[in-house]
Amino acid sequence: IFKEMEKHDFEQIIFNYDKTTGLKAIIAIHDTTLGPALGGCRMWPYESENEALIDAMRLAKGMTYKCAISDNNFGGGKTVIIGDPKKDKSEALFRALGRFVQTLGGRYYTGTDVGTTGMDFVYASRESDYIVGLPEEYGGSGNSALPTAYGVYNGMKAAAKVVFGTESLKDLKVTIQGVGKVGQILADYLAEEGAKIIIADIIEENVEKVKRKHSQVGVVETEKIYDVECDIFAPCALGGILNDDTIPRLKCKIIAGAANNQLLEPRHGDILHEKGILYAPDYVINAGGLIQVADELEYKDDEKRHERVMMKAAAIYDILLKIFTISKEQNIPPHKVADRLAEERIEVIGKLKTNY
Ligand code: NAI
Repeated sequence: IFKEMEKHDFEQIIFNYDKTTGLKAIIAIHDTTLGPALGGCRMWPYESENEALIDAMRLAKGMTYKCAISDNNFGGGKTVIIGDPKKDKSEALFRALGRFVQTLGGRYYTGTDVGTTGMDFVYASRESDYIVGLPEEYGGSGNSALPTAYGVYNGMKAAAKVVFGTESLKDLKVTIQGVGKVGQILADYLAEEGAKIIIADIIEENVEKVKRKHSQVGVVETEKIYDVECDIFAPCALGGILNDDTIPRLKCKIIAGAANNQLLEPRHGDILHEKGILYAPDYVINAGGLIQVADELEYKDDEKRHERVMMKAAAIYDILLKIFTISKEQNIPPHKVADRLAEERIEVIGKLKTNY
């Protein structure tokens, strides 16, 4: 493990076991140069401890880059709980987790992720001061789908500006894979702007919800979404969907969506670049949710929160425009430019912090 920590610049990995509840959780803290580590807690029935560890490390490192690129004052961390979210949850389990998070004294803040809910962290917050993103009724900033969708919408505009010379999405054909919490709101923004929308989702009810609001929206079977000729493809469901099987089928000019870890491997970002498809790096364009959570920690007043968060989510436009411009000028794929800019920010801010 130490070798891997050294290779990927990890600061700390903590294995937590609670004998009362049987909680098994790994907290990975990647980098705290910019500020305390921030990152959600995933609960998953991992096959092995090693699988859980790898996931925690991968996700924590991702959070470092996401915080850095989106102008947040936080570092990267993540928790994974080994367990089945359908069977193994209890108040005590999350209070046990809260107690472990508390021992870190503010080096790390956590909240919901895949497999965990706001209520789980209401329990954790009974034991810890370092819990974020609670439901609004409990004083948190609540659902982050709105700023996430707004960030994606603005990111699409930056991509359209580069590819079509105008940031307007009117009459552009946009396909959305997955119309869940984020995809539905994204469809609202796009419909309002007059884009032609085509959606796919495995849950019929979610498709119907969008159709009821916007009758002009087209629908395709989930497997067909990759084959639709369009201007923008917006993955808003699963990770790993940009891979050797799907990329040859794509007939879009831009990929800009909310899903995490869209590239199965980094090399798939290179392939998209070679094919002339403009890819908006996922952790840049989907940072709206993180921006909201970070705001909750940084500014205590919630009166102006919504305004501030939406303003920062809109600024994803500028960040992406910068990435796309460098990518074009230097012929480097956007996902690599994003990594470089994030690393540069961490380096510069880290250096200036050692000045006194
Ligand atoms: P969600 O679970 O509400 O929606 C996902 C939708 O995708 C569901 O409607 C689901 O049925 C659909 N789906 C699943 N498999 C599919 C397939 N094979 N084909 C088509 N549709 C499929 O999740 P949410 O919150 O909307 O998030 C969407 C994506 O964005 C996820 O990857 C999430 O990790 C990412 N994300 C979400 C953020 C947020 O604030 N909610 C923040 C940053 C990233």
